[in-house]
Amino acid sequence: MCGIVGYIGFREATPLLLEGLRRLEYRGYDSAGLAVSGRRGKPRIAKVAGRVADLRDAVDPARTGGTGIAHTRWATHGEATDANAHPHTDPGGRIAVVHNGIFENAESLRAQLTAEGAVFASETDTEVLTHLIAAALEAGASSLEDAVRTALRPVEGAYGIAVLDGQRPDELVVARQGSPLVLGVGEKEMFIASDVAALVRHTQRAVFLDDGELATVNAEGYRTSTLDARPTDKQPVTVGVVEEDYQLGEFPDFMRKEIAEQPDAVTRALRGRLDERFATVRLDGTGLDARDLRSIRRVKFLGCGSAYYAGELGANLVEELARIPADAEPASEFRYRNPVVESDTLYIAVSQSGETLDTLAAVEELNRKGGRVIGAVNGVGSAIARACGAGLLLHAGPEISVASTKAVTNMSVSFAMLALLLGRVRDLSTANGQRIVTALRSLPGQIEEILRAEEQIAEAARRYADARNMFFIGRTRCWPTAREGAQKLKEISYVHAEAYHAAELKHGPLALIDESMPSVVLAPDDELFAKNISAMEQIKARGGPIIAVTNTTLPHGLTDTVIRVPHNSPELDPILLSVPLQLFAYHFASTLDRDIDKPRNLAKSVTVE
Ligand code: AGP
Repeated sequence: MCGIVGYIGFREATPLLLEGLRRLEYRGYDSAGLAVSGRRGKPRIAKVAGRVADLRDAVDPARTGGTGIAHTRWATHGEATDANAHPHTDPGGRIAVVHNGIFENAESLRAQLTAEGAVFASETDTEVLTHLIAAALEAGASSLEDAVRTALRPVEGAYGIAVLDGQRPDELVVARQGSPLVLGVGEKEMFIASDVAALVRHTQRAVFLDDGELATVNAEGYRTSTLDARPTDKQPVTVGVVEEDYQLGEFPDFMRKEIAEQPDAVTRALRGRLDERFATVRLDGTGLDARDLRSIRRVKFLGCGSAYYAGELGANLVEELARIPADAEPASEFRYRNPVVESDTLYIAVSQSGETLDTLAAVEELNRKGGRVIGAVNGVGSAIARACGAGLLLHAGPEISVASTKAVTNMSVSFAMLALLLGRVRDLSTANGQRIVTALRSLPGQIEEILRAEEQIAEAARRYADARNMFFIGRTRCWPTAREGAQKLKEISYVHAEAYHAAELKHGPLALIDESMPSVVLAPDDELFAKNISAMEQIKARGGPIIAVTNTTLPHGLTDTVIRVPHNSPELDPILLSVPLQLFAYHFASTLDRDIDKPRNLAKSVTVE
């Protein structure tokens, strides 16, 4: 949510900043801007409401300067306008600031400054900080670092910031409290970014700042300290991802690429974890031994959006395979309802990015109350991974598209493994354990098989692309899959889609069914198959088009379209059934000519409330 880039070194900053912003654009894309060191002690600013490409057009190609900061925005305070775009400057135009996050007490600080005569050029919370930094410098702060420290003291809320002082362009100051920031260490040059995606082209050596940390960066290196000036002496680590992970290759967009990567992503998630001998799995990263696993009396999954739906699927698997009560809750609600935290409950924080503020806050609430929480996270070294300390790494690889696909699949696969592990230290038989191990092993090949049938799914999507509302129907095991299918369609096509339990239709929503309201019905070959057939009969009797997703044969003439998937196992079939729904949403949205990777109003990782 908002992307920050910075550069200081021997090269021209502007092209590097623009290229870094392009890499981070998935984090926010309603406006973009940059500031580079200029003459007469004032940074030169360019900013536009629009995409990075619009900024590129607006930037003077002759703009030179070896130090700069840049930003791509997802609006929180104030509309997406040129004036509200970052960087922001103080009234004297000396200090430029880019900011990711929200200053929660910005209004009162702004009122205070206005009373003292300050005039503001934007509606943003960020501009307040530029005034405070300039005031601290005027009051005699010994360095930019000192001024930033002083200015941040009265500020409440979450931030990742980068600050450029036009009078001292040989250094940049950055600070982090709740929003990610990473330094890239080069040879006589340094990079700053809110995500390694913007760094890996230039360096593999990165320093991840912690909350409450500040760094002063110059071309030769960096110095880290806490916000209250205690040195932290952070050392660089090697980033495990490379430039190719962020390239489209043959694909038209990242969502399509990431859907196609799922067989490999699932293979990575399973690698080294399946234990044929004992018909179980090894999940060493959780830090839970057999005794710990046996002491767990309840499992609760916490996540937001698709990560929450994956948690629902995980809860079903834990109940089914391990017979332990389990549920999922939106992480965004958890801390606000003063939750009862039990010592024998295993809490699982689920997040692709590992940065989602609501999920992080749920983890902090659990840590505060002494709950046992592990992460199910894709972002290595992310805030949630670090706050949990232990967990299940998802191994999906970098995910760029706002609509999550491979990470959600790997969440489900990881939860199937966790459920198996919990089951096998209890009463799940060796034979059933073996059956699930085999089913897990079959997933990558079966996903490949579904991907090979893409054209048929695309054709179905095109056929219904004029629908303005759709139902996604599933029950019990397939309920989370139905929710995720509806979420994918809404998110990237802007068409209203709603998930419903099959048996609930007749209690109200059936009134909405007519020939303009298609229903995607998930009908796996399980003990509820006959009930799903009845639900389809009810829809058909009211003229509603039916798109069935199934792994078995349906009565002739019942449905308008059938999408077939291979049979895996009743427990894991919902994972397979979700893959055609991703492709359905993708082709539906493509037919409507939507901006697939950057749907309107959204951003990839939500680091604000
Ligand atoms: C998924 O397609 C969505 N973009 C969104 O619901 C996402 O899953 C949610 O914001 C949570 O993100 P996280 O997994 O990075 O925590």
